[in-house]
Amino acid sequence: MLAIEDSLTLGLAPRPPPYYAAGICEVTTVVEIRAVGDAMEMALALLESGDVVAIPTETVYGLAADATNGVGVARIFEAKGRPRFNPLIAHVADLAMAERIALFDPLSKRLAQAFWPGPLTLVLPQRSGNGIHPLVTAGLDTIALRMPKGFGGELIARLGRPLAAPSANSSGKISATTAEAVAADLGPRIKLVVDGGATPVGLESTIVKVEGARLRLLRPGGIAAGDIEAVAGMPLLRGSEGIEAPGMLASHYAPGAAVRVNAGKIAKGEALLAFGGRRAEGWQGAVAFRNLSVSGDLREAASNLFAHLQDLDHSGAKTIAVEPIPFDGLGEAINDRLSRAAAPRDRAATRDRAATRDKIDTGQ
Ligand code: TXA
Ligand code: MG
Repeated sequence: MLAIEDSLTLGLAPRPPPYYAAGICEVTTVVEIRAVGDAMEMALALLESGDVVAIPTETVYGLAADATNGVGVARIFEAKGRPRFNPLIAHVADLAMAERIALFDPLSKRLAQAFWPGPLTLVLPQRSGNGIHPLVTAGLDTIALRMPKGFGGELIARLGRPLAAPSANSSGKISATTAEAVAADLGPRIKLVVDGGATPVGLESTIVKVEGARLRLLRPGGIAAGDIEAVAGMPLLRGSEGIEAPGMLASHYAPGAAVRVNAGKIAKGEALLAFGGRRAEGWQGAVAFRNLSVSGDLREAASNLFAHLQDLDHSGAKTIAVEPIPFDGLGEAINDRLSRAAAPRDRAATRDRAATRDKIDTGQ
């Protein structure tokens, strides 16, 4: 059981202010576009400081952050203005890094060896203790992995850690395939676009997942399904369902406990997910306690969301009461996730969830 005192030490340690390497210490309001040959050190400094960088890949431009840094990953959602926390692809430098993150079955390994680096993303079970921040996977126990070609691969190798990166476009817009398009769209919200020219593939990676002895196509993309079938030696399963709207991924982490949002009053025996410095009435009766952000910082709250929900779920409380969270900025995505967790889980809902499992969204 988690003690109330835990809140003072868990997830609340003040973070050091962002810093940048000498020469780039001003916070810029105008985004810099730098050619790949001239961008590595600045990109590394930004990633090390928990910031985001737009990078070219062979498919589309990605908006990248260190996949082990929750605040960095939260900034991705903030910069894209994504109203929902979709799971992101973690990009790796080599197969060894991928195998430290996920558990490979023989078929997935064969596909990785055949198509990496390249536009193939594999969904795999996560290895425990892999250091990936839960905001990357939206709390799932699987992870989408891919090894990009070119600058991205070098950057990841230099950083020594995987990069989480969705396409570098604001939510609802099409994926950017040039540095200029990224700058025009996300310009004021990010500091650096690494310019690698127009991306050769021009559409997102193909996503597949091994299911028992079969292989399922979760998203068509830059590698033709037929090429994957040739290497796999079997036809791809395709849901007749097609691709779902963003955020509909049905296997998103759903706590076992019931979730009660916008709680102004805490009942005895509930677990409390708090936000900010003022406590809801009756908070002393909570059997477990986490605070998303004592200072009311929505970026910090986003980075703590999945881990805190999981902690409170493990406390054994039947209900997790959640204090009101503002809707501005990342608050919209936080509230979206919480309201999904709070949605009634009757048999129909459970059936729906099973039926739509593994269908994914368009990721925009
Ligand atoms: O080519 C690409 O894949 C680009 C470049 C930047 O690498 N990235 C990209 O990411 O398209 P994004 O976030 O726009 O799309 C990621 C897709 C989403 O549809 C998401 O639902 C799915 O991957 N996804 C991520 N993790 C998943 C998981 N564990 N299970 C199933 N689907 C997952
Ligand atoms: Mg996208």
